[in-house]
Amino acid sequence: MDDYAKIIYKDKTYILPVIEGSEGEKAIDISSLRQETGLITLDPGFSNTGSCISSITYLDGEKGVLRYRGIPVEQLAELSSFTETAYLLINKVLPTREELNRFSVLLNDHSLVHEDMQTFYQNFPRASHPMGILSSMVNALRSFYPGLQATEEEINIMVTRLISKVRTLAAMSYKISRGHKVVYPRHDLSYCANFLNMMFNTPVKPYNIDKDIVKALNVFWILHADHEQNCSTSAVRVVGSGRVNLYAAISAGIAALWGPLHGGANQAVIEMLLEIQKNGSNLDKTVKRAKDKKDPFRLMGFGHSVYKTYDPRAKIMKKMCDNVLKKLKINDPLLDMAKELEEIALNDDYFKERNLYPNIDFYSGIMLRAMGIPTNMFTVMFAIGRLPGWIAQWKESVDDPKWKLSRPRQIYIGPTKTEYIPIDKRK
Ligand code: SDX
Repeated sequence: MDDYAKIIYKDKTYILPVIEGSEGEKAIDISSLRQETGLITLDPGFSNTGSCISSITYLDGEKGVLRYRGIPVEQLAELSSFTETAYLLINKVLPTREELNRFSVLLNDHSLVHEDMQTFYQNFPRASHPMGILSSMVNALRSFYPGLQATEEEINIMVTRLISKVRTLAAMSYKISRGHKVVYPRHDLSYCANFLNMMFNTPVKPYNIDKDIVKALNVFWILHADHEQNCSTSAVRVVGSGRVNLYAAISAGIAALWGPLHGGANQAVIEMLLEIQKNGSNLDKTVKRAKDKKDPFRLMGFGHSVYKTYDPRAKIMKKMCDNVLKKLKINDPLLDMAKELEEIALNDDYFKERNLYPNIDFYSGIMLRAMGIPTNMFTVMFAIGRLPGWIAQWKESVDDPKWKLSRPRQIYIGPTKTEYIPIDKRK
């Protein structure tokens, strides 16, 4: 054993192996801890606990580094496309031109959704949140596409089908929620252009597909494509560990992403900025509230479980925001407010001492708003971007020979053995 940790407990010494990752991260392997010592570890929120060994995404929270299969996210955002990045995450390597063309054709081949699924939408109350609808519809895909997922071929078809259809489901949900005619995917459009067209094309006014907006959407989804073992990815892995079908595991990931502390933050940021604007745009008061422990208010889009420096994705998103608003000739006061809020917070000791910086959600909503995406669909946009990452992480667990049912332990602090008291004897 090259590297190890010693635990001394009740004057007995236990040696546990320490493993090292390719970027020098180290972990004590405690898989034999309970059987050797009778002890378990306790780590609410798992911030000190590795759940798996993975080769998909590397992030360094202190240095603000994010790489997919070793490639810096900055390079992918500048030079790649969302479908190419999805291929990279899921298939471990960048595709050749022929492989990418084939993947794009397959994505278009699978872009239609069974017509009967449209009736589902008709029965959701009009005010239903698009994340609740998406999670239900992705789960429902299993009923319409009950194919096996035993062989590599079967899994690849299921994966391509899901990545393609999730766009159609999201756009369909938007159109039906507005009482508009559903726009079908087109075979001649790229992944992102197809989505924008399905969202915004109308019989009255054809949607003008602008290459800069398509590029911005590619970058948005590339930045969201994976982020190692975050809350929703962990949900996909845990639910998938029960050997359930991929659709159900992804549906769980969508549900986990919905929370305002996680993927729901992009919607919460815009709602926060609009609230500040409505109350007179007093930014100093806002920052004061965010620091006040007695006030539940938090600066949404700020802080991160892992990044203790500027989220590298937020830097790119801020630039994309400027580009999109300039291109669309939109002057959104929320962007100026967000930049001012960032400036105040980054110079405030409370935020500096706690290493609280803007995360990916701080600027993303402003860009989506400018593109015409409704606020309650911002997290759906995040989910579409994160789908390839969830799939890659699920596949990695399926391919792991040591894949086992996730079953954490606990420390019980409830009542010790207590006798049942028949109801007529209770006080
Ligand atoms: C995403 O994990 C991922 O990778 C997620 C994600 C992904 O791509 O999958 O990156 C996407 O979820 C980004 C995060 C989006 N969420 C938000 O923007 C919501 C606002 N942020 C916070 O709620 C908070 O920062 C968390 C939940 C994101 C992270 O919290 P941590 O790391 O668990 O930190 P903590 O709650 O222990 O806070 C440490 C201190 C506390 O103060 P003290 O008790 O030390 O006095 O910082 C304070 C917190 O009160 N703090 C904040 C704050 N975030 C943390 N204070 C004011 N405003 C904030 N936003």
